[in-house]
Amino acid sequence: MIAKKDRRLRVGVLGCGPIAQFAHLESCVKAANADLYAICDAAPDLLARMGATYEPQKMYGDYDAMLADTELEAVIVATSDAYHVPMSIKALEAGKHVLCEKPIGVSVEEGQKLAEAVKRSGKVLQVGHMKRFDPALEAARDFVRDEMGDILALKAWYCDSTHRYTNTDAVQPLPVTSKLARKPAGNPKADLRQYFMLAHGSHLVDTARFLVGEITAVRARLHEKFGAYCWFVETEFANGALGHLDLTVAVRMDWHEGFQLYGQNGSVIAKTFNPWYFRASEVDIFHEKDATSRKPLGADGHFFRRQLEGLADTVLDGKPQRGATVEDGLASIRAMVAIARSVESGERVELAGVTGAV
Ligand SMILES: NC(=O)c1ccc[n+]([C@@H]2O[C@H](COP(=O)([O-])OP(=O)(O)OC[C@H]3O[C@@H](n4cnc5c(N)ncnc54)[C@H](O)[C@@H]3O)[C@@H](O)[C@H]2O)c1
Repeated sequence: MIAKKDRRLRVGVLGCGPIAQFAHLESCVKAANADLYAICDAAPDLLARMGATYEPQKMYGDYDAMLADTELEAVIVATSDAYHVPMSIKALEAGKHVLCEKPIGVSVEEGQKLAEAVKRSGKVLQVGHMKRFDPALEAARDFVRDEMGDILALKAWYCDSTHRYTNTDAVQPLPVTSKLARKPAGNPKADLRQYFMLAHGSHLVDTARFLVGEITAVRARLHEKFGAYCWFVETEFANGALGHLDLTVAVRMDWHEGFQLYGQNGSVIAKTFNPWYFRASEVDIFHEKDATSRKPLGADGHFFRRQLEGLADTVLDGKPQRGATVEDGLASIRAMVAIARSVESGERVELAGVTGAV
């Protein structure tokens, strides 16, 4: 059992849908330095079921009422993408810290608006790019930062599998659903290019930025065949590294995610697993100086719990923010928009100039 600390962040989860059920509710209960103080959902049946299972101190059918609770310190926004920015701004304006699911927003303008709201509020906002809390990827990032020297190139891939739901159905609890759940108008899967980019591309872009830093420009191609979507993205980084990102949905094979990173003083090869296995990536860090490899075990693969603990470390103990900031979230939106525009035009697109939605 994880020992609870004396001072714990009082967290309210907005949304009791699948992502809350698979990740955030349990993360709050397990976190060493946070508690599941409140839950909120517009669907009363879902709220009652999750209340009975996770026993928060408070339950709310109305988000404004939860935000008016003076005991509440932070909100996890676990709703569909279209609500991320408005619900995060509401929380910040009510004086709460925020952990918001990825992607942080769907357009550059929305991301900018949120960045301004974060600055005005003086509160902490962390984007739910939980892969930054995969302990083996953290070890890779530490090597890049401290020992690797100049980076030559990154090749990274994120390929969802045709067998993905067979895999996840085998390990996840059955989600509790409700006809009363609040959803944005329209079908988010109506435009699959946009949907796959927001759902999956956001992870790929953030992992690339986490390891190598700012992406400045992209040139992207999209190949659609037999129902599969394959983006190949030539990527320029501010530090001069070459990049190649591969987003494929879905490959006719197992989940396929990872990267190869070549540097002056070593290299890193990583294989990342379907997140619902809660298993740290297999990472091989090669040190040129003694021609040996190090493979961190990363025994604690609960990156969703770890990201919440990271937020609480920052809020309660003033530790530097380890998770993605609102600027990271905005940079990811810019990269995804640039990829979309480059696919349309066939041209190289600089991130600094992009506007509009993914
Ligand atoms: N980090 C990851 O790897 C990962 C994986 C899967 C999904 N996600 C993210 O999770 C999000 C989708 O989560 P989901 O599938 O659980 O969403 P969902 O829409 O199925 O459920 C959201 C719940 O929030 C409730 N809700 C929404 N707005 C509300 C409001 N204003 N007041 C009260 N209740 C409200 C709804 O009633 C619903 O029950 C997406 O942004 C997706 O990108 C992240």
